[in-house]
Amino acid sequence: MKSILVTGGCGFIGSHTCLELLERNFKIVVIDSLVNSSPLALERVKKLTNKVKNLSFYKGDLRDINFLREVFFRLKDENNSISGVVHFAGLKAVGESCYEPLRYWDNNVNGTINLIRVMEENNCKTIVFSSSATIYKVTNNLPIKESAEIQSINPYGSTKLVIEQLLNDLAINSPQEWRISSLRYFNPIGAHPSGLIGENPLGKPTNIFPLIMQVGIGRIKKLQIFGNDWETFDGTGVRDYIHVSDIAEAHFLALEFLLEHKPQIINFNLGTAKGTSVLELINMFQEVTKIKIPYEFTDRRKGDSCTVIADNSKAFLDLNWKPKRSLSEMCCDGWRWQSNNPSGYL
Ligand code: NAD
Ligand code: WQD
Repeated sequence: MKSILVTGGCGFIGSHTCLELLERNFKIVVIDSLVNSSPLALERVKKLTNKVKNLSFYKGDLRDINFLREVFFRLKDENNSISGVVHFAGLKAVGESCYEPLRYWDNNVNGTINLIRVMEENNCKTIVFSSSATIYKVTNNLPIKESAEIQSINPYGSTKLVIEQLLNDLAINSPQEWRISSLRYFNPIGAHPSGLIGENPLGKPTNIFPLIMQVGIGRIKKLQIFGNDWETFDGTGVRDYIHVSDIAEAHFLALEFLLEHKPQIINFNLGTAKGTSVLELINMFQEVTKIKIPYEFTDRRKGDSCTVIADNSKAFLDLNWKPKRSLSEMCCDGWRWQSNNPSGYL
């Protein structure tokens, strides 16, 4: 049985992916600093699988290289060497990154450099990295292909872009050694259908779906919609929302692909290739939950784009990955999690 290190495994996408990888018979070692998550996420993952003994957790920060070395050393000592890494750990709030750029660069970039260094020291050269659609230059050329022009417009995006460049440099320098895949997520939402794990924002969320859910549970009175004058069919912004369980499955497929193929670097978009406007998302949420979401229109948000939709054909061609879950399942599963856990993991 292969052992996989999952950094940031207590987080939203990480916890869903841990469950997926356990069910696919990997041993999972999670490292997480808990800066934006709770260890209870892994306790919930354990409730959803009978492979509990294959999951272990080390609390620590990727910026602490001695901690990282210690984890790799201990695992080798137990004859449990790491075959590959799924690297989620990072700070992810775009707005916050504009106020605290140094913290974002330090956490995301320095954390990743340490991780790569310790991987090299242990001859572990397989990594799946959590990248983002935010690295694409704003474009009217839709849907967006992996080959589209890249440009970051905020510090968070810069950290993702520079990490992709670092991974690219590693692949160019040692093409016979590294197996690398950056997965560029579009807008992951929803939750596991059990309602036991889901997104657990520790501060006030800024993404639309957790905000809708917080209006749903009454924590926020009204949703603000950023603009009704976009060039879309109803004037509100259009995005490519994708169920987190579909994202988790793609991680298994990308990892399996890398482990079974020759060393290479290969990047994939993870989206549904379908656009949904803010109003459509609210309407779907109201329809499946029967809960009214009050909203008001406000000015456009600085730096926002009109329409962002993935071309997901490469992931289908190479990984045989197709997202299976509908927008109504995203809303239904997300709400099951939020309504069962109004205060998150407590
Ligand atoms: P999340 O905040 O729920 O999970 C990230 C996890 O990483 C958290 O558990 C956090 O405690 C941990 N972490 C952060 N910095 C760390 C460090 N230095 N050392 C150890 N642990 C650390 O976020 P998520 O939504 O699950 O996102 C996972 C990854 O996917 C992130 O890298 C994010 O940038 C990327 N991503 C997310 C989205 C999205 O909309 N959720 C979209 C595109 C990309
Ligand atoms: C979606 C739509 C807003 C909030 C961000 C990051 C990106 C990625 C995903 C990590 C837009 C509208 C939003 C609100 C609104 N994350 N909106 N009122 O902007 O596509 O992408 O999250 O990598 O990097 O930039 O997602 O959820 O913020 O916005 O009207 O209070 O909802 O204008 O049209 P976005 P979002």
